Amino acid sequence: MKRMSPHSDDASRLKLGILLSGRGSNFLAIAESIRAGRLKGVEIAVVISNVAEAPGIQAAREMGLPTAVFVSKGRKREEHDADVSAYLKAHEVDLVCLAGYMRLLSPQFVAAFPHRILNIHPSLLPAFPGLDAQEQALNYGVKVTGCTVHFVDEELDHGAIVVQRALAVLEADDAHSLAERILKEEHIAYTEAIARVVSGEYEVRGRRYVKRASGPE
Ligand code: GRF
Repeated sequence: MKRMSPHSDDASRLKLGILLSGRGSNFLAIAESIRAGRLKGVEIAVVISNVAEAPGIQAAREMGLPTAVFVSKGRKREEHDADVSAYLKAHEVDLVCLAGYMRLLSPQFVAAFPHRILNIHPSLLPAFPGLDAQEQALNYGVKVTGCTVHFVDEELDHGAIVVQRALAVLEADDAHSLAERILKEEHIAYTEAIARVVSGEYEVRGRRYVKRASGPE
């Protein structure tokens, strides 16, 4: 992968492809980090939604970013994913960021971007994978939960962990208040995770994402 540097010119900027299905607050947080200079050397090359009316894709359009909609409903996973994957490749996307993308990726998609797909999940994985993670955590009675940014592999919410942020579950919490506080942490975590990946200073060793022993690739 290209390596980011604080003085990257346009040509050497690392290209992000954002995939979303809904609200898009994580996408907006990433975009704001880039705008504010907290995330240097990257640009959003394209925002893709699998849901035509997703508020996130509407927001991307209003920001003037390149957008595409590939409706997934009623299509075979492999066929839909092949279209999305080809589109990302055509736009020379280096790193795919799933930001509330409510769809499992086919093994072919995952293989097309080895260790180049990030996902964010609203729990401290491996606890509470799958849907309604905040409610799962609350109902289980954990005192600490949080969010995880991880590489995507072929299993649900499973790949090597890049960044986690933890927070306390309060006695007064319900699933809504907990989800709101986790979301604030998500917005910080995703920027941290992208910065870590594009720095070129880390590598996947087994399940661990750790600093390289011998400098960047
Ligand atoms: C977030 O809670 C994320 O962790 C989960 O889906 C939600 C998406 O929220 N994967 P948003 O669309 O980014 O606002």
